[in-house]
Amino acid sequence: KQPIYILGIETSCDETAAAVIKDGTEIVSNVVASQIENQRRFGGVVPEVASRLHVEQITLVIEEALQQANLQPSDLHAVAVTEGPGLVGALLIGINAAKAFAWANGLPIIGVHHIAGHIYANQLVTEMKFPLMALIVSGGHTELIYMEEHGKFEKIGETRDDAAGEAYDKVARVLSLPYPGGPHIDRLAQIEGEAVDFPRAWLEKESYDFSFSGLKSAVINYSHNVKQRGEQLNPEAVARGFQQSVVDVLTERTVRAAKEYDVKQVIAAGGVSANQGLRHALQKELAAANIEFSVPPIQYCTDNAAMIGAAGYEMYRKGCRSDWTMNGEPGKAL
Ligand code: KG4
Ligand code: ZN
Repeated sequence: KQPIYILGIETSCDETAAAVIKDGTEIVSNVVASQIENQRRFGGVVPEVASRLHVEQITLVIEEALQQANLQPSDLHAVAVTEGPGLVGALLIGINAAKAFAWANGLPIIGVHHIAGHIYANQLVTEMKFPLMALIVSGGHTELIYMEEHGKFEKIGETRDDAAGEAYDKVARVLSLPYPGGPHIDRLAQIEGEAVDFPRAWLEKESYDFSFSGLKSAVINYSHNVKQRGEQLNPEAVARGFQQSVVDVLTERTVRAAKEYDVKQVIAAGGVSANQGLRHALQKELAAANIEFSVPPIQYCTDNAAMIGAAGYEMYRKGCRSDWTMNGEPGKAL
């Protein structure tokens, strides 16, 4: 049987990425050019800067992915590219590069939803077992998604205000930590010691929704008050308390949803699923409930193109193809 090779391309935010995936599960090559160093001085992602940096990097990144894979364009079967959601200018760079490459080499193009990509990052390490519950936690999304089978996504809960990653990044700013703040707070939170007690947003008892803006405000007010009293802020105690509050709520919702929907597997995905506190809590609670749990290795939790290739393969197998009028969809629905 001939192997199927998919070239994945991702440019929805601040990583310019390309990867080659074999049969949907095997990473043949994976290249990520991060803009983080460049964007850090602005304290976040500036869309116009992101687009320009993608333009500079995209051709090199695609060439590098093919070279590392030791493959010719004629060995590929399709080009999968993130269609949305994301920054429209950033998306367009990846989409146009994908179109040009595919057109020149007689390949079909497949538009992939960014969140489907995060979910399918799990296929790179384990087989997805249905029905499953996916917890998506990234810089732009916090959602619980029920999947009955491949390609079928039912959103059962989402954030009513900030995404989990957004809350991490904002709290990090208060603690004067560099962008993106998630990994820094995670590191501080793992050091043993006391924790500041922050509230948990439980919302209605049966709800699967999330809210992080109240917690964010509580951290900001607490830090402000400490400074106003002329006292020293203990960033580790703040990080521990904040992370505990986020992890408690994410874990309670996910485990309750998994039980209620009687799923075979729970998967976590997105940048915040790299969080050590969250990974441990989900592992522990789901093991206690006897439900299988999967989360990608850290480097495949944050944005990459291997996940787009993995999701693209599933669509390729089903016969999904996009046409040449494909456009960036900043608010694309799953
Ligand atoms: O999925 P991603 O790379 O980009 C989006 O699609 O948004 O997620 C980026 C987010 C950032 O907010 C970053 O601070 C957060 O993921 N993040 C973390 C960790 N690593 C990345 N948050 C908490 N703990 C981490 N270890
Ligand atoms: Zn992402």
